[in-house]
Amino acid sequence: MAASAPSGLRTTLLSLLGGIILSMGLLLAGCGEEDESVVNVYSHRHYDTDQALFERFTELTDIQVRVVSASADELMARLEREGPASPADVLITVDAGRLHRAKERGLLQPVESAALAEAIPAHLRDPEGFWFGLTQRVRILAHSRERVDPEELRDYEDLTRERWEGRVLARTSENIYNISHLASMVAALGPEEAEAWVRGVVANFARPPQGNDTDQLRDIAAGVGDVALVNSYYVGRLLNADDEAARELGRQVGIIFPNQDGRGAHVNISGVGVTAHAPNRENAVRLMEFLVGEEAQRAFAEANFEYPVREGIEWAPTLQEWGDFRADTLNLERLGEHNNEAVQIFDRAGWR
Ligand SMILES: [Fe+2]
Repeated sequence: MAASAPSGLRTTLLSLLGGIILSMGLLLAGCGEEDESVVNVYSHRHYDTDQALFERFTELTDIQVRVVSASADELMARLEREGPASPADVLITVDAGRLHRAKERGLLQPVESAALAEAIPAHLRDPEGFWFGLTQRVRILAHSRERVDPEELRDYEDLTRERWEGRVLARTSENIYNISHLASMVAALGPEEAEAWVRGVVANFARPPQGNDTDQLRDIAAGVGDVALVNSYYVGRLLNADDEAARELGRQVGIIFPNQDGRGAHVNISGVGVTAHAPNRENAVRLMEFLVGEEAQRAFAEANFEYPVREGIEWAPTLQEWGDFRADTLNLERLGEHNNEAVQIFDRAGWR
């Protein structure tokens, strides 16, 4: 998601960005002091529906929600910089791999909540309570409707077949989505088989890894390649875009939920945790419980064409059209455990 830069330049960029981060009424004075009527949220999300939900939360609880929006990496760097003086109570970010890193870097604290445990399936939250899933996304196989018969492609493992030579599109292995997905393959298949898979996919690349998930979809439409590994909501966004050209692009792409006869498709989350030094811890937990409640779940997931974590919540119409699927129920904390191994495998096998 974030562009990479040399660490010196990166630090400078981050401090510059820290200054210009969209900050909505965040009180920097009074850092670290308990304020019963406030909860400070650091979020990678910037949807209007989130703001509406936070207002609803305030209506119900009299707790003001103050939001700082920035990219996940910027928010984590900021939390690290601020340390115990941070005004943040809640971190909302994407990918269990990244939440695991936040936990490892000491940026989160454990929470025990019956409401969270009841609402969120066990595999979508940290067994120790450091982070909780709010929405789910699926790592799907997107393909050209014109040039690919979906029957030809059922599992992630199929991407190594000879028929896909010169046709596979992917982003770089630096990306947390790819790292977490490979970590799930290491957990399912073991490191040797996972590495053989990476080598096979690399051999079938249509071009060197580049761009974000949307760029992979654009390159399918442009005929650069025929099949891509992407998160499901990127296709949902195109199909529901305001711009007709984007919608047309979305219609050229078909989607496959992989590994339906086996372990299921790899799912990941956007998730939430209470920050290590939260001045308003109780309010933070109340906000999290609100976000997994019935009222919030549909709107929160639908804003980005994701799936609610809570059972029995209606999905966005596009997701209903795609239909039901089998999801891998590997506990997402295990992705974090295999994170480093996945990075090394990518490196050895030449997925740059
Ligand atoms: Fe994304």
